[in-house]
Amino acid sequence: MARVYLEQVCKNFGDFVAVDTLNLDVQDKEFVTLVGPSGCGKTTTLRMIAGLEKVSTGKIFFDNDSVGHLPANHRDIAMVFQSYALYPHMNVYENIGFALKMMRIPRPEIERRIQWAAKMLGIEMLLQRKPRDLSGGQRQRVALGRAIVREPACFLLDEPLSNLDAKLRVSMRAELKRLHHDIERTFIYVTHDQAEALTMSDRIAIMNHGKLQQFGTPDEVYYHPANVFVAGFIGSPPMNFVDGEIVHDNGTTYFTRGVLRYPIPPRLSQRLQEQGRSSSVTLGVRPETIGVSHNGPGIAGSVYVEEPLGSDVFLTVEVEKAYVIVRTDPEFRASFGEQVYMDFNPQKIYLFDQKSGDAIQ
Ligand SMILES: Nc1ncnc2c1ncn2[C@@H]1O[C@H](COP(=O)(O)OP(=O)(O)OP(=O)(O)O)[C@@H](O)[C@H]1O
Ligand SMILES: [Mg+2]
Repeated sequence: MARVYLEQVCKNFGDFVAVDTLNLDVQDKEFVTLVGPSGCGKTTTLRMIAGLEKVSTGKIFFDNDSVGHLPANHRDIAMVFQSYALYPHMNVYENIGFALKMMRIPRPEIERRIQWAAKMLGIEMLLQRKPRDLSGGQRQRVALGRAIVREPACFLLDEPLSNLDAKLRVSMRAELKRLHHDIERTFIYVTHDQAEALTMSDRIAIMNHGKLQQFGTPDEVYYHPANVFVAGFIGSPPMNFVDGEIVHDNGTTYFTRGVLRYPIPPRLSQRLQEQGRSSSVTLGVRPETIGVSHNGPGIAGSVYVEEPLGSDVFLTVEVEKAYVIVRTDPEFRASFGEQVYMDFNPQKIYLFDQKSGDAIQ
């Protein structure tokens, strides 16, 4: 069993607050991803869970026990570091098996686990090599192997795929997800890659500047982002944001910006009124929900740039000095400066309070 529970955890380095009042409840056998931009406190959080860094205030529990007093080697966790930290004088086989040897696990069992992990990670051919004779991606896989064979209650993985090339990264991400399913352990996984977070996780914790922004399933954070930061971080290309003003006219509520006037669906205008929000809002629209045509109807704009990607086309459209990216199918083509019409789906637009960034929902 390994439920990992962080209660009001803070970490200061001098005056600097690296992790700010973090509450996080990771269920036993859950795959939770911590995601956020560089410096937001992901590694620091993981190191506190591992026992490599003391919390400044707050508590960490494994199941129902506070682990504040427990050193790292008594926490039944395996951590894969951002910097792989392999033993340079040992070959790959010895690196992967070292912890098992220390645990006095019988030799045949060690052999079995090393072969299993090496096969899964595609490094069977490298078992006799020293770390200095490996590429970055190969070292990273050895570091993963070293964690996997220990079969701990909880895995802490800090950007374990960051040094792999794009193709290997995508295949390893599927392998890790499968591994999690097969071995049924708790995984806490750190990445700054939103696609990794979306594809692998049961739940995602999105952090910024040491603060938790939202904690939810991939669907929750994608479809119901709590604020502008989450909305802009999850999804690729990111959600479009257009700042404007709310205007009421003849019983209808409009989002306006210059000559742009877009009727807001009743569910949102109702929320605006209930919550007594200011009229300065940010309209959010995901690129994949916008229809586009050469003849309208819709919001007229001019094509700033078109980027064909084979499977789709990204079209950047300028309207009232705002740029909106549209993800459309490859048949749609437009040239620089051409007028096109965008059709926003009223069921799929978002509104955010311009000042606080909170979603109006
Ligand atoms: N030992 C330390 N002393 C002072 N500041 C630190 C220390 N460790 C981390 N920090 C600061 O705390 C903040 C969070 O660091 P952390 O390593 O947790 O970020 P991260 O989210 O893992 O970023 P990255 O994606 O770049 O790895 C950063 O601003 C960092 O400079
Ligand atoms: Mg880090």
